[in-house]
Amino acid sequence: MPTKFKLNTGAEIPGIGFGTWQDEAAQEDAVTEALKAGYRHIDTARVYLTEKPVGKAIKKSGIPREELFITTKLWNNKHHPDDVAPALRQSLDDLAMEYVDLYLIHWPVAWKRGDELFPKRNGNMILEDIDIVDTYKAMEKLLSTGKVKAIGVSNFSKAEMERLLQNTSVVPAVHQMECHPWLQQREFTTWHRKKGIHVTHYSPFGNQNQFYGEKGSIGKLIDEPVLAEVGKQYNKSAPQVTLAWGITQGHSVLPKSKTPSRIQANLKGDFRLSPRDMEKIQYIDKKLRFNDSSGEFGREFFTDLEGK
Ligand SMILES: NC(=O)c1ccc[n+]([C@@H]2O[C@H](COP(=O)([O-])OP(=O)(O)OC[C@H]3O[C@@H](n4cnc5c(N)ncnc54)[C@H](OP(=O)(O)O)[C@@H]3O)[C@@H](O)[C@H]2O)c1
Repeated sequence: MPTKFKLNTGAEIPGIGFGTWQDEAAQEDAVTEALKAGYRHIDTARVYLTEKPVGKAIKKSGIPREELFITTKLWNNKHHPDDVAPALRQSLDDLAMEYVDLYLIHWPVAWKRGDELFPKRNGNMILEDIDIVDTYKAMEKLLSTGKVKAIGVSNFSKAEMERLLQNTSVVPAVHQMECHPWLQQREFTTWHRKKGIHVTHYSPFGNQNQFYGEKGSIGKLIDEPVLAEVGKQYNKSAPQVTLAWGITQGHSVLPKSKTPSRIQANLKGDFRLSPRDMEKIQYIDKKLRFNDSSGEFGREFFTDLEGK
């Protein structure tokens, strides 16, 4: 049986989800392939421009909506409380769905209101003075409409999480963050467990995403010898071990691929590693973050976290 975890709402979230960032033109086929392979958890976002292809693939699949777990995210130009419900409406229209299972604040930064995804002046992002607490309170209001089953956040620092918990009434169901064996964030993820916030790993393969480019000559996370060595005992590959490393901690993981053989193989990363193997992987942590848009997005992120 595929692994599922319970959220603080009582709903279940599948351990393995399917990422859809990049390769927009390939996503309808990729999601179709993923659903055929058995994925039932799909991650998209307004800014990925993949809500439409995700919606089309789901419709084509004929899989009943209640068997799926769909996440999308509020983009930075829609943080004003008055813009949150209309932004969700646009996402639902593109997904051709009545509701999403999870709606996340994508980044803790507010940009100029409007429809421009990257509003810039002289090459810099135009910021808007909107408190993230107010944006989150507008997200809370969506719960009673039935159009979102759960709400959460992504890319928040510890201080931002604490401030949210102190000033709002719904504990986020999920925090989606970069996490993999080179950025393990053990203290931060343990903190989430204590607060009842489910952690989901994005970029679970570390620097496999081409968008992250080359950081010196460090090579690729999935070429770490210990991952292949651990995998041998389970008859699994290094990428499958990185997914299992997340699942074993009780976290969801979001591998992305447009390649049918990889889409199928990644689903088989749904298994558990022994405590001894988890310990071996603990030693390869480099506290290395690949997705940090600080500066470029108009402010500093992750200031109190590992990998800064
Ligand atoms: N909340 C956020 O801010 C945020 C940020 C980043 C990502 N995400 C979400 O998390 C998802 C996953 O993260 P990601 O896309 O950054 O990276 P990822 O899933 O760690 O890596 C994707 C890359 O790995 C390749 N790949 C997939 N399976 C492989 C395998 N078995 N062996 C070798 N290479 C493999 C893919 O190539 P091919 O596609 O060519 O097969 C692609 O280039 C995203 O798609 C998105 O949904 C969220």
